[in-house]
Amino acid sequence: MRLKDIKELFQFELNGMYDKEEIDNFFFMIIESYLNLKRIDLALNPELSCKDNQSQLLNDALAHLKKQIPIQYILGETEFFGLPFKVNSSVLIPRPETEELVSWIINQQPKTEKQELSILDIGTGSGCIAISLAKKLPNAKVYALDISKDALKVAKQNAELNNVVIEFFEADILNSKAWSEEFKNLTLDVIVSNPPYVRELEKDMMKDNVLKNEPHLALFVEDEDPLLFYKAITQYAVNNLTNKGCLFFEINEYLGKQMIQLIKKCGFNSVELKQDIFKKDRMIKALK
Ligand SMILES: C[S@@+](CC[C@H](N)C(=O)[O-])C[C@H]1O[C@@H](n2cnc3c(N)ncnc32)[C@H](O)[C@@H]1O
Repeated sequence: MRLKDIKELFQFELNGMYDKEEIDNFFFMIIESYLNLKRIDLALNPELSCKDNQSQLLNDALAHLKKQIPIQYILGETEFFGLPFKVNSSVLIPRPETEELVSWIINQQPKTEKQELSILDIGTGSGCIAISLAKKLPNAKVYALDISKDALKVAKQNAELNNVVIEFFEADILNSKAWSEEFKNLTLDVIVSNPPYVRELEKDMMKDNVLKNEPHLALFVEDEDPLLFYKAITQYAVNNLTNKGCLFFEINEYLGKQMIQLIKKCGFNSVELKQDIFKKDRMIKALK
């Protein structure tokens, strides 16, 4: 079948669900990933066609798009901080605001000192934060933790894909009794986390494709105690950060003030709230 006919079929079938340009972008991302063909290949050779089994693959992708499955899950990959990451439905799709957090952490590190840094990423998911930091801060020893076995499998694959060594722990950050001695006794210069922070009451504001496809374990907290992860992590940071250590969080844009109070109450003196490019309260840095 000719690719331009399949492209038209994408436009026809997805019309009304996505805008025209987005549909074309999906189509080109899919042919690049599945058939190794670029937009320019089709522009230069408009009569290009594909074999039956290939057109079946493209049709399957179209069916997934119609079910609002995110393109990153359909392709099984995405990009974060300029690096390739495998993703599937057991991990959150890395978000651009998290890239801003990673960038902030990197910019805070001394440029000249060569001393080894130790960094822990709590709730690592795809491993996007831990792996980007390991890649950009080669003098860092990086640890990462998640409660989900399936997420850790993806994160380990991503560490290999990006050629970095990360030490992974499977643990529930909310249950200190079950932590390994090794995890309990880590001494860290940087602790970072983008934990679940969306309240149930915010579900109505979320897009259907996120709600239906991304892991709820990664997203939601109960309305009654929305900062429970931050409390547990800040408490862990009080005990495990070095004197000059830094705690970084991605936060719920509506809970900035409560976050500052919580962190100060736990004994951190300097707390800085930072907005993302959309001017939403999104990140926090705290020093002891
Ligand atoms: C918002 S996602 C962040 C994923 C990734 N760090 C990112 O920024 O894209 C939160 C992560 O926390 C993990 N998580 C949820 N509950 C947890 C718990 N009790 N202990 C440890 N990790 C947990 C989830 O599995 C998920 O991977």
